Amino acid sequence: MGNRKKVVAISGSIRECSTNTNILENLASFFKDDIDYSIYDKIGEFPHFNPDLDDEEGPKVIEEFRQELNEADALILCTPEYARGIPGVLKNAIDWLVSSGQLLNKTVAVITASPMVAGGEKAQASFLQTLEMLNANVVKNGTLVISSVGTKLNSKGEATDKDTRLALELLVESIITEIKKKKAPLT
Ligand SMILES: Cc1cc2nc3c(=O)[nH]c(=O)nc-3n(C[C@H](O)[C@H](O)[C@H](O)COP(=O)(O)O)c2cc1C
Repeated sequence: MGNRKKVVAISGSIRECSTNTNILENLASFFKDDIDYSIYDKIGEFPHFNPDLDDEEGPKVIEEFRQELNEADALILCTPEYARGIPGVLKNAIDWLVSSGQLLNKTVAVITASPMVAGGEKAQASFLQTLEMLNANVVKNGTLVISSVGTKLNSKGEATDKDTRLALELLVESIITEIKKKKAPLT
C-alpha cells in the first residue's frame, strides 16, 4: 500500500457532456493498477472564494477538497477556454488553494481542449502563469493544447487522432515518472 500513488484529475467544465471531462475519463485507461486515478467532480459546489470564509470553520466541501489534494501525488487539469481565460468555476477552485498551499511543488499537467483551432491556448497560457505563481511543478511534456477537438476525439472522448493519443500517453507517462521519483506526500 505504501508505494501506491494517487493522481487526481479536475475538469474545468461542469457541463454534463463535457469534452474535457470525457478526455479525463479516458485517461483512466492509461494508468496501471499501481496508481489510483480519480476525477474530482465537486468544484461546481464550491462557494465563491472569499477570504472572510477561509477560516478555521471554513466550508466543509473546501476542507474535503484540500484533503483530497493533500493526498494526491499529482494533478491533471483539463479545461475549456471561456472568453480567452479558464472558466470561472475552475479559477474559483484554484483561488481556494492559494492560502492553503496544496499546489506548492505539486506535480501537475494541464490540457486545454477546444473545438476552435487555437485549442484554448490563451486560457492555457494564463493558467500556467497562475500555476507558476503557486509554485506548482508543471512537468515536462505535461502541457497539451488540443485544437479542433471534434476532429481528434470520438464522442466518448477517446483520441482517434494518432498524434493526440501519443501526446496524451506522453503526458501521463511524464506524470507517472515524476511521481515515482518522489516520496509520499504528507496526509
Ligand atoms: C461562455 C463560453 C465562452 C467560450 N469562449 C471560448 C474561447 O474563448 N475560446 C475557445 O476556444 N472556445 C470558447 N468556447 C467554446 C468552448 O471551447 C466549447 O464550448 C467547449 O466544448 C467547452 O468544453 P466542454 O465540452 O468541456 O464543456 C466558449 C464557450 C462558452 C460556453
